[in-house]
Amino acid sequence: MDSKNIPQHIAAIMDGNGRWAKERGLPRLAGHREGTEALREILRACAEFGIKYLTVYAFSTENWQRPKEEVEFLMSLFAEKIESELEELMANQVKINFLGRTQEFSAELQQKMQGAAEKTKHNAGVVLNIMANYGGRAELVDAMQSMIKEQLTINNVDEETIGKHLYTKGMPDPDLLIRTANEMRISNFLLWQIAYAEIYVTPVLWPDFRREQLKEAIEAYQQRLRKFGQTEEQIKHAA
Ligand code: IPE
Ligand code: IPE
Ligand code: MG
Repeated sequence: MDSKNIPQHIAAIMDGNGRWAKERGLPRLAGHREGTEALREILRACAEFGIKYLTVYAFSTENWQRPKEEVEFLMSLFAEKIESELEELMANQVKINFLGRTQEFSAELQQKMQGAAEKTKHNAGVVLNIMANYGGRAELVDAMQSMIKEQLTINNVDEETIGKHLYTKGMPDPDLLIRTANEMRISNFLLWQIAYAEIYVTPVLWPDFRREQLKEAIEAYQQRLRKFGQTEEQIKHAA
């Protein structure tokens, strides 16, 4: 790995928990639980590799359509993990944010999410964004509504203004977008922010995506030539 070309911001669509469990003859819920272990390891590896932002898709606005039992389990897993991991997050200087329409969660869960964000807000280590009840379209709708509320006029709306009204305001866009479990789609994740992210899809299921797999993803990223619309010659000349 080239330590001079580390992505500043990695986003991950944590997919394949259900398949991981199915392969082992376990209930889907066991896959979600193991998925939290993978996230723990990835978060640590991000700190080790010098990645500043990690944004993970934990629950989409579409995931409410899953069986009631699964949705309830995921909600209880959020609550349980916030409680059990907070101490370690503090010790590792992680700043955690829960981004999405979190106002639709139970009051109790909202309180836990806000409490963890509040407690870690001055930490200077990795910024961990847990995207929960998140949808890229919902985020854009929310951004437009807040701009209208502020009575912004036509001349005041440009790309920068929109960026400032997203849940990820103040953060750089992801450099690398990882999707596990081999699905070649975005599933309503970070529609605006991934405009120029490098995409890495792996067949590895999320619960098996660990430090070594992250390292491979970063190495693949380092092989890419990011052109941002320019020609190869221009990019190489500038470098
Ligand atoms: C991702 O794993 C976790 C969530 C969407 C909450 P899945 O549960 O989608 O796993 P598969 O796609 O069924 O294998
Ligand atoms: C995307 O995974 C959402 C999360 C990882 C939280 P899904 O498993 O819900 O996506 P689709 O339905 O296969 O596109
Ligand atoms: Mg899935």
